[in-house]
Amino acid sequence: MLYEKFIKIIFATSAYCFQGKLVIGDQNDIPWRGLVPSDMERFKNLTIYKSVIMGRKTWDSIPEKSRPLVLRQNIIITRNPKKISRNIAQNYPNHSNLVVTVDSFKKAVLLAESKIVWVMGGAEIYKLALPYADCIYQTMVDKKVKGDTFFPNLDWASWERIYIHFFNPGEEKTPRDKVRSWYSVFKRQV
Ligand SMILES: NC(=O)c1ccc[n+]([C@@H]2O[C@H](COP(=O)([O-])OP(=O)(O)OC[C@H]3O[C@@H](n4cnc5c(N)ncnc54)[C@H](OP(=O)(O)O)[C@@H]3O)[C@@H](O)[C@H]2O)c1
Repeated sequence: MLYEKFIKIIFATSAYCFQGKLVIGDQNDIPWRGLVPSDMERFKNLTIYKSVIMGRKTWDSIPEKSRPLVLRQNIIITRNPKKISRNIAQNYPNHSNLVVTVDSFKKAVLLAESKIVWVMGGAEIYKLALPYADCIYQTMVDKKVKGDTFFPNLDWASWERIYIHFFNPGEEKTPRDKVRSWYSVFKRQV
C-alpha cells in the first residue's frame, strides 16, 4: 500500500521465456497483439472507472485510436511531464482531462483518484511499483516470441497464486482468441 491505495500490477507475458526472462514487449509493442482479445476485455473490465498508471513508452505504444483509455484516469510517468502534457492537450483536446502526467511513481499514486490503482507497465514502471504492490494479475500467452522488454526479476516464492483459469480459443468467453492463454492472480505473502 502507498498513500492508502491498493496497488495492483497487471501484465501479460509469453509462456515461453526468452533468454530466461518473461517477455512483455518488443519494439514498443506487444508481440501477441490481436491474438488474445479476451485478455484485452478482461483488462478493460478490471480497470474501468479506476486509475491506471503507465510509463511514457507504454502510452506511446497504445494505438492512437485507443488512447487515452476511456472511463479511466490515465496517469503517465515521464521525466518531462509538462512537454508530454502539452502534446496530449494538442492531440486529444476532447479527452485530455482524462490524462495526468507526473515525474515519479509516488506522485502518480498520490494523484490517483481511485482507491484501487492499476499499474499497467511497462518494465520500468513495474519495477518502481513492485515494492508497493499487493497483487499481480498475470496472463500467460501460449506463443513463443522474441522480445526486448521483460518483466522485472521477482522472488515468486514471496507471492501466492490465489486464482488460475485456462482459456482455449473458440470457447464461450474466447470466441475470437487465436491462441491459448491462462490467467493467474498472485497475492503477496505476508
Ligand atoms: N505485456 C504487457 O502486459 C505490457 C504492458 C505494458 C507495456 N508493455 C510493453 O512494454 C514496453 C514498454 O516498456 P518500457 O519499460 O520500455 O517503458 P515504460 O516503462 O512504459 O516507460 C518508460 C518511461 O517511463 C518514464 N520513467 C521511467 N522511470 C521513471 C522515473 N523514475 N521517473 C520519471 N519517469 C520515469 C520515462 O519516460 P520519458 O522517457 O518520457 O522521461 C521512461 O522512458 C513496450 O514494448 C510495451 O508494448 C507490455
